[in-house]
Amino acid sequence: AIDISTLTKQTGLTTLDVGFVNTAATRSAITYIDGDKGILRYRGYNIADVAEHSSFLETAWLLIYGELPTAEELEAFDKRVRRHTLIHEDLRRIFDALPHDAHPMSVLSSAVSALSTYYEKSRGVNDPDEIELSTIRLLSKLPVIAAYAHKKSLGHAFLYPDNSLSFVDNFLRLNFGTMAEPYVVNPVVSKALERLLILHADHEQNASTSTVRLVGSTESNIFSSISAGINALYGPLHGGANEAVLEMLQEIKDSGEGVEKFVERVKNKEPGVRLMGFGHRVYKSFDPRAQLVKESADEVLEALGVQDDLLDIAKELEAVALADEYFISRKLYPNVDFYTGVIYKAMGFPPRMFTVLFAIGRLPGWIAHWREMNDDPATRIGRPQQLYTGSPAREWPEGRPEG
Ligand code: ACO
Repeated sequence: AIDISTLTKQTGLTTLDVGFVNTAATRSAITYIDGDKGILRYRGYNIADVAEHSSFLETAWLLIYGELPTAEELEAFDKRVRRHTLIHEDLRRIFDALPHDAHPMSVLSSAVSALSTYYEKSRGVNDPDEIELSTIRLLSKLPVIAAYAHKKSLGHAFLYPDNSLSFVDNFLRLNFGTMAEPYVVNPVVSKALERLLILHADHEQNASTSTVRLVGSTESNIFSSISAGINALYGPLHGGANEAVLEMLQEIKDSGEGVEKFVERVKNKEPGVRLMGFGHRVYKSFDPRAQLVKESADEVLEALGVQDDLLDIAKELEAVALADEYFISRKLYPNVDFYTGVIYKAMGFPPRMFTVLFAIGRLPGWIAHWREMNDDPATRIGRPQQLYTGSPAREWPEGRPEG
């Protein structure tokens, strides 16, 4: 066993590790990844089993509390999450203050940050009851805020949640229902979305989760920490890739240049041209989530009777890239984001909502990591070192006028 105390002493030695490629910043018992073998496990359970047998809330419980819930525990948890879906009426007005064409990820992070203004007691990071309540509030309210961000972009009236519906069905209704008529949930869409949320639920120390932990290490409250995580997820190299993939597929279709030509441009490293949805810092043989998402894409589009050229382009791109030395030698494979956009589009979500869906999925992971960090007596404020490359000490110029 490693004696952690010997590893947390300042030794005077500094390691330069740009992008934290080799440096572990914490121990964690939540998620296991073996990037060479394409293995992903939540609390020891294989991701394919979790996606097949579990619900999103059960997965959330598993990640946060470490074990599968009993039937009674799950029922009580589900009830509690349903009960807290309402957003304070004043907070609903925050949406009026933001431009209608604001990106929903910015709207989401702003509103989540604002949640801490309503729940002042959440500053008590040593109060287990308050942390428990914040956990429930986040799980209940994030989907509602997300749906309002969507409705706002359309200029539609916001609906109040219907707590008789399940977590996913409530979310679908808030996005696609209107005041004018009852909303009927399509079970194909509901099941597929549940599965996609599960596949996104945690991924150990990715950029957004590390952000949540870093902010949390200052004893900032969980709402502020998760708002920071949402901002980290927004970038196209992380969660924003799902939106970028769809834009890329659409551009290939509209330009008519063909997949082979596009891949050539990627290989020539034309500025700003990457094969979005490909490559991963950790997975070097395949991303197990990507395989499950690809299966879903075929099933969902077929069940919904949707024919989308973009799915064909995506498949062609994957086939061309996987046979090409550039991608083979760099161990670049489709990641979780490569096929999700095509499914979200078939469900009726606009591309700007794709990363918001990722955020809802990732929420249990962020919460689980924040709580693990907060409970761990070994936690210290996260404070990386640097190697200074600036000027040596200089004399202030004599005779220089006062600034
Ligand atoms: N298209 C083309 N080339 C790529 C791609 C890509 N998608 N990804 C990596 N490469 C190349 C790099 O140019 C580099 O080549 P070089 O050695 O000739 O310079 C090599 O592969 C290594 O790439 P890095 O950028 O150093 O790898 P890193 O681990 O830092 O980045 C990342 C990983 C950010 C995911 C990267 O692969 C990427 O930008 N992918 C596209 C964006 C994307 O899909 N992000 C989602 C990631 S999954 C998630 O967050 C849920």
